[in-house]
Amino acid sequence: MKVNFKKAKNEKDIKSILDYNIDAFSDSPDFKWTFEEIKKEVAEGWELFSLMLEGEIMAAVFYKLEGDSLLTKNTAIKITHQGSGFSHTIKEFFEKVAREKGLKKIYHYCRIDNFRMYSLNESHQYKKTPKKLGPEGLVVEWVKTLK
Ligand SMILES: CC(C)(COP(=O)(O)OP(=O)(O)OC[C@H]1O[C@@H](n2cnc3c(N)ncnc32)[C@H](O)[C@@H]1OP(=O)(O)O)[C@@H](O)C(=O)NCCC(=O)NCCS
Repeated sequence: MKVNFKKAKNEKDIKSILDYNIDAFSDSPDFKWTFEEIKKEVAEGWELFSLMLEGEIMAAVFYKLEGDSLLTKNTAIKITHQGSGFSHTIKEFFEKVAREKGLKKIYHYCRIDNFRMYSLNESHQYKKTPKKLGPEGLVVEWVKTLK
């Protein structure tokens, strides 16, 4: 299946991701999914991409450059397409971006109770740090050092 990552360039792109996924991501435990929240993230330097499969949005993906690191996070995969390995595709995308930019580390953020993401992260050689983030301390940090 052919997938690609499309950068959100303006408010219209953000809106289309939001409109498309409002139901699909309503169970997304990692991320507050409102137009205002997304705009705030983008204003704070997060770049937003949609993972597209044949014209359909599968997930929203964020990254941000900070020093020698790429900070990353993503929504859940659209429910109808979970179980097809797209989360591995997202991990590969982050790694490609980090390597192309000559960065040394990739950080990933997910909810403290997203245990499927834990095993995904571990299988891609990420290590959990002791850091807890977010207003309620419910976001955990993972790091991978690139060789
Ligand atoms: C979990 C998530 C990252 C998996 O993405 P996906 O593309 O659907 O994943 P796949 O089923 O193809 O599995 C990819 C990897 O995720 C991990 N994974 C997925 N399901 C898992 C499970 N039930 N237990 C442990 N690890 C799991 C594994 O590492 C798996 O790799 P493998 O199949 O090579 O072993 C993604 O669906 C997600 O973020 N879901 C969150 C939604 C959620 O938690 N909803 C609950 C509402 S509260």
